[in-house]
Amino acid sequence: MSQLALNGGPRSVPAELKKIGWPIITPEDRAAVERVLDRGVLWAMTTLEGLNCPEQDALEREFAAFLGVPYTLAVNGGTAGLHMALVAAGVEAGDEVITSAFSFLATPAAILHAGAIPVFADITPHTWNIDPQRIAEKITPRTRAILAVDIHGLCADWDAILELARRHHLLVLEDACQAPGASYRGRSAGSFGRAAGFSVNGTKNFAVGEGGFMATADPEIFARGTWLKQVGETLPAENPAMRQQHLLAWNYRVQEMPCALARSQLSRLAAVNETARRNAAIMDQYLRETPGLRPPFIPEGCVSVYHKYRITLVPEELDTRLHGVALRNAFMAALAAEGVDVDLWGTAPLAAHPMIQARHGFGRGFPWSLAGPPEQYEYHAEDYPVTLEMFANSFCLTNDEFPIYAQPEPVMHAFGRALQKVAQNAGELAQARVAAWQTAT
Ligand SMILES: Cc1ncc(COP(=O)(O)O)c(C=O)c1O
Repeated sequence: MSQLALNGGPRSVPAELKKIGWPIITPEDRAAVERVLDRGVLWAMTTLEGLNCPEQDALEREFAAFLGVPYTLAVNGGTAGLHMALVAAGVEAGDEVITSAFSFLATPAAILHAGAIPVFADITPHTWNIDPQRIAEKITPRTRAILAVDIHGLCADWDAILELARRHHLLVLEDACQAPGASYRGRSAGSFGRAAGFSVNGTKNFAVGEGGFMATADPEIFARGTWLKQVGETLPAENPAMRQQHLLAWNYRVQEMPCALARSQLSRLAAVNETARRNAAIMDQYLRETPGLRPPFIPEGCVSVYHKYRITLVPEELDTRLHGVALRNAFMAALAAEGVDVDLWGTAPLAAHPMIQARHGFGRGFPWSLAGPPEQYEYHAEDYPVTLEMFANSFCLTNDEFPIYAQPEPVMHAFGRALQKVAQNAGELAQARVAAWQTAT
C-alpha cells in the first residue's frame, strides 16, 4: 500500500488548514495611504524650502534608525538602490566587481548598469553566502570592489570579507535586499559595506510592492546618492536657477503613497522577522529528527530573518536510489502532493545565465557590451561546484504567496510532519510519476 499522496496515499496537510497569504495589509496600512491622499502631496515636490515629501523623509529616518545606519535614501527598487550604491561609492566603467555566484540576477545587473564587470565567486557550503577564499582567488589589478550578498536573509561572512578588502584596498558594498533586520555579531545587515541596497518588493519580509533603499554611513556617498536618485538635480538652495546640470543620473525617485505604506509595514518588520525565526525553529526541530534532511545552517553570532528557508537533501541517508536533481524534483513533487508549499528559487549559477554571457545582449551601444571582453563572461561550471551542488540537492520550503515569515504555527507543524513522511517513504519516490514541469530544473 502506498503511503505518499503522490502515489495515491492519504494527503498529509489537511486542505482546510489555514495558511496566511502575503503581503498582509492591515487597517493601519490603509490609514497610512489615506493620510497621503488627504494631504494631497503625492511626490517629492520641489519648493523654495526644499523638497516637500513628509512620508519619504520620515521613512528614510525611520529605516535608518531600524538599521542603526546614519543615512538611507528611499528609491524605487532594490536594483536601483544597489546601482546607486555602486556608483555613489565610486565604482566606474571597466572596474571588476566580485560578487556571489548565487543571488538574484539584479545583483550582477546593478554592476553591469554601472558599466562595471561582474566577476563571480563560488559560495560556502551550508551558508550559501560568498566564500571569502574564492573571492581572494578572483582578485586582479582591475578589481575595484566586492559586492557581497546577505542571501536568504543571512549575513555574509563579513569579518573575513572586510579584512580581505582592507588588505587589497577594495571597496565593499552590500546587497542586503533580502536581509533587513538580520545581524552579524551584533551589527545590522546593511551596515558592513560603504553602501548597501535593500528591496521592499512585495515578496520580501519588508513588503511594499516595489521599492528599495540605499543605506550608508558615509555623508559623501549619501550626498552623491541624493543627486543620483533625482536625475542629477541639486536642490534649489544650492542651485537657485537650476541652470547648470552637472551630473548624468537616473530617476530613482519614490512616491508618497508607497512611502506611507512602507512606514506602516516597517513598524511590523521586527514582528515579521520574529515569526520567521519562530517558524524556522519549529522546522529545524523536525528536520534534526529526520535522517536525509538538513535545516539551514546559521553560524554562531548570526541572526537570520529567513527570507528563504532552504532544506538540503542527503541522499545517502534516504532509502532511495535517486540522487541529485532527480531526487530533489521527486521529493518536491511528493511534498507538493502532500500539500506542502515548496519553491526552487534559482536553478543555475549567475554566470550561466545568457544575460551574463552577453550573447543575448541588446547589441553594441548597450552599456555592458563595453564592459570587458566576451571571454570575461564565459561560463565554466568547474568554478562553481558548491553552487551547483546546492541547486541539485536543496529546495526552499514555502513560497512567495505563503512565505514562512507569515505562517501560523499549525502550518509549520503540518509541513514538518509531511517532510518526515516523505523522507521516511523515500523508497516510493523512484516509482512516482513526476509531471514534466516537476522534472524541469
Ligand atoms: C538578493 C537580491 N538582490 C537584488 C534584488 C533586487 O531588488 P528589486 O527587485 O527590488 O529591484 C533582490 C530582490 O528582488 C534580491 O533578492
